[in-house]
Parts: sequence; structure tokens; C-alpha cells
Amino acid sequence: MAGRIPPDFIDALLARTDIVDLINRRVPLRKAGKDYQACCPFHDEKTPSFTVSREKQFYHCFGCGAHGSAIGFLMEYERLGFLDAVEDLAREAGLELPKEAEAGPAAPDLAPLYRVLGEAAQHFRRQLRSHPEAARAVEYLKGRGLTGEIAATFGVGYAAPGWDLLLALLGADAKARRLLLDAGLVIEQEGKRYDRFRDRIIFPIRDRRGRVIGFGGRILGDGKPKYLNSPETPIFHKGRELYGLYEAQQANRRLERVLVVEGYLDVIALAQFGITCACATLGTATTPEHLQRLLRTAPEVVFCFDGDRAGRAAAWKALQTALPLATGRQQIRFLFLPEGEDPDTLVRKEGREGFEQRLQRARPLSELLFDQLAEGVDLATIDGRARLAALAEPLIGQVPAGLYRDMLAGRLAALVGVEPARVGGGPARSKAPRRRPGPSRQTLPPLRLAIALLLQHPELAPAAVAEPDDWRALERPGVSLLAELIDLVAAYPGLSAGALLERWRDSEQYNHLQRLADPALLRHIPAEGREAELLGALGRLVAEMRDATTASLLTRATPSQLTEEEKAQMRRLLSRPRDDPGAKS
Ligand code: UTP
Ligand code: MN
Repeated sequence: MAGRIPPDFIDALLARTDIVDLINRRVPLRKAGKDYQACCPFHDEKTPSFTVSREKQFYHCFGCGAHGSAIGFLMEYERLGFLDAVEDLAREAGLELPKEAEAGPAAPDLAPLYRVLGEAAQHFRRQLRSHPEAARAVEYLKGRGLTGEIAATFGVGYAAPGWDLLLALLGADAKARRLLLDAGLVIEQEGKRYDRFRDRIIFPIRDRRGRVIGFGGRILGDGKPKYLNSPETPIFHKGRELYGLYEAQQANRRLERVLVVEGYLDVIALAQFGITCACATLGTATTPEHLQRLLRTAPEVVFCFDGDRAGRAAAWKALQTALPLATGRQQIRFLFLPEGEDPDTLVRKEGREGFEQRLQRARPLSELLFDQLAEGVDLATIDGRARLAALAEPLIGQVPAGLYRDMLAGRLAALVGVEPARVGGGPARSKAPRRRPGPSRQTLPPLRLAIALLLQHPELAPAAVAEPDDWRALERPGVSLLAELIDLVAAYPGLSAGALLERWRDSEQYNHLQRLADPALLRHIPAEGREAELLGALGRLVAEMRDATTASLLTRATPSQLTEEEKAQMRRLLSRPRDDPGAKS
């Protein structure tokens, strides 16, 4: 993937992008000295420790340690893959992606699929307006209470009756017909091809960029199957996509909450009544991917379920999916509707206010967890409480270590009446964001210090290049990385720290470098002391190399066994005072 994008394209892209603008559009920043600040979007905090540097084209949070380039930010914040993030940035920067980046031999060109689905969506919308049979569809939609305006917002259309309307319109040649098949618009059976959607109301499903990636089609009235959906295709994965999320993001500059409902028409009805934050899974249970996306989209996710048995079971399933992602940073809540109602019917009955009142009363994950578990156990007996503990422990254990998990464990302990420390899954060392200790004098070993300094302050490179480089011969992990880094910054003096890091994204050493890119590591070094620190570190490495050589020559027994050249080297090494890196300025 990333390998297909040439590094100089990434350099150019990051040179054209301003990380401050990019982040500011998503997380409003405040100027603080030379840098910009905000409350960190990646963890919960009250005082800003998220810092963006224009000079370095790098962001960093002193609270949770998140950091990276503009590409890294987009990947984290928008939950994008590398290629998608690069594509987004390129579009914003007005740069054309290098051809081979989009479609290698293994990756088919997806553009035709998007195109044909877009054309089909247009066709369905047109038919809703002008097909002779469309009156029935319009009647149906009106009967369900939809306004023309909301239908337009969601691009609702109509697939007229007939086996080959779409085929005839968009399947001019064999290639085009193949495309219709690949897009899931046409079905092939026993050598015959026909339109998948016939005489159905059509709901286009859009991805996060608003591109149509599939459709849902509802029968007019009763009949089976009630809904027909696009099949999985290279661009449509039900386990990942959420109907209406694009529209919700369009309707709100910043979503404070997302609501997860079951049906297309629930999403649309809620939006019609001004609750524009709903989305729906596509006839599947909520997957971890869905949830991750939701948690990235808003600080609160509310699942809406029927109050009946099936609804409770579905809620429990969603809760289990949520546990490994529940950090307590976002709220996850559950709303149960009265039996026989869905959000569509309810919002039409109770209006926006009524529905919002219900939303206020949605139950937090922790509450549902304990209530559900406590059901059927008798908390008045030791045995009942033990049973509760046995059921709850493995579930709590799935929650990421951190305060939230500790609190759940604490609640369980209180419920069963034991010391919190006795409850498994409970207090553990937190992996979750933890404020780091203040400026420490803890020093990195010279190799890592040199890499961190060069990575974060590439402008130091010329000074480093001017120094002796005997250290290159050291046989230690990391030495070749330092050598590569110095060579690269020397060759490309203009690269920002962010762009530099991106050069290694595909390499095994990326994680290592990524950790060394953390500004907190260098916080104790004042700007004017950086060069001295770097030269000191390199000096220590050189000394180490000389010591190693000396030692190896000495172990070679008597001087007579050394070659003339080695003897000369030995004399040089022994006569030379060891560099005192600390004394260097
Ligand atoms: P429901 O049957 O609860 O639909 O299915 P609904 O939205 O209330 O339908 P209306 O109000 O009668 O129109 C919920 C969701 O499950 C999927 C669809 O995504 C639907 O929106 N579903 C349902 C299917 O995929 N196929 C079906 O046959 C039924
Ligand atoms: Mn319904």
C-alpha cells in the first residue's frame, strides 16, 4: 500500500499541507507562543495539552502521548487507512495522486464502480419523479409521512418494475454489463442477467465521503423480502458501513452524539423531525469496526433497540462488542423503546421533544451491564453474589485497562460486597492515557537520543554531518537507522519532522521511530542546548566504538600478532584522550 506512493510525493504533499490548518478545521486551535493548542481530541481532558507545531508540521499531546504528522493525524482522527488519508490530503492540496498509488496490479481500479453506482442512484431518483409507475411509490412514501424535502436529502429513489431497466440504460456493452454485475446492481442466474432492484423504494447508501456505495430497496407495502440490499462488493461492506452517517455529518458541523437505529426509515424519520444524528447498521449486528467509527465520530454513542426480547438480545450483543472499546472517554448508552415501536413510529407520535426526552434517559453501558447480569441472580445470598461476580469478571476483563475498568470493578466489588482489589479484571496498571511525570532529567541512551533529536529537529543535521562518524561501524541495532536518518536529512534539508517520519511508515523501524518522535522525550533539553546534546550523543557513540575496537585489538594477545596497520590503529586509539562529551559545547 504505502509502498506504492513514492516518498517524494509524500514529501511534496506534506510540504503543501499545513498541519495547523488541517487540524484547526477539525479541532479548533488556539495560538500559544510559537505553537497551537487545544484539548486533545484523543483523550478526555479539561486543560489543553494537545500541541501542534507549524514549524515541525507535527502534533503532539503531552497528556496521552499521541503524536504524528498531518497524515498520522488524519488516520487517527478520521479513522482512515494510510492511502485514504493521503488521498484526502492530496485532494485538499490539489495534487494528483501518482497513478500507481491508486491501482497496483493487485488492486483493481474502483473508480468505475463508484461511477456506475452514482449513475444508478441518479437514475432511481429520476424514476421517482418521472416514471409512469412512480405515483405508487410517491403515495407509499407520503403514506409513511416522508416530506419531499427529506426524501431529497437522503437521495431516495424508485426502481420501477421491469427486469432490465438499469441493464438497458447502463449496460451498453459487455464491459458495462460486467460492471453492473460487480456493483451488485444486476443479478446473474442461469446465464440470464436482470436488475436486482425492481419496483422498490431505493435508499442509496453513502460512504463517509458521500459516494454511493450500495442501495437498500423496500417493497411498496407488505411482501417478502421487505428489504433487499446490495450484496458485498469491493466497495460495500455491511460490517463497516453505517447508513445515514454521511448525512448526519453533513447536517452537523460537529456531532455531539450519534444514535444507532435499525432501519433506513428510522434514520430518515428522525432527521425529518430534526434529530439529524442517527445512522443505521445495514441489517447486521454492530461490528467492532462500526463501533470504532462511531466512537471517532462523536463523544457519545446511543444504541436504540426495541424493548422486546429480540431487542434486549441485540443490545446485549452490542454491549459485548463495545466492552473492548469502552475506555470511558466516550459515553456508550442504550435506549429501549416501548414494545411495538421503532424510532420512526415513535418520533412521529411524540415529536422531537418526546424522543429527545427518551434519549436523555438512555442507560449507560455500566448500568445495563450490571442490571442485565443481576437479572436472575439473588443478590441477597452469597451464592447469588458469587454468581454475579463470576459472570461479570470476564466481561469487565475485556474493558481496556484504565480508570473506567477500575470503576466497573469497583462497582462489582460493591455489589457483591468484597474489597475492590479482590475483583478480577480490576485495578491494573493503566494503559489508558495517563498524565506523564513532569519534565524529567531521565536521559536517553546516546543512540536513541541522537535519533530523537535528528528526527524532531532535522535542522541539526549539518552539525552532525560535520562530526567524526566512526560510530557507523558499531554493530548495534539502531546504528544503521541513525546513519540512514543523517544521510536523509542531509540530502533533503527542507523536510519537516512530520515528513521525515512518513519516510519510514512502511518500514519495520517505523514503530521505533514513531516512539522517538515524541517531543516529551526531549522536553528537558532547551532549544539552544539541542546541538550540544546531539554532538555529545554522537561523541559518546564514537567513544564507544573506539573502546570496542581497542578491546578487540587487546584481546588479540600479543602485539606481535597484530598487523602493522592494526598496531598503528592501536597506538592512535591509546594515545588519544577519550572525548568528554559533556564538556563539548
Ligand atoms: P425492520 O423490519 O425493523 O425495518 O428492519 P423497518 O425499518 O422498521 O422497516 P419499515 O419501517 O417496515 O420500512 C430493520 C432493518 O433491517 C434490514 C434493513 O436494513 C432494515 O432497515 N432488513 C429488514 C433487511 O435487510 N431485510 C429485510 O427483509 C428486513
Ligand atoms: Mn419501521
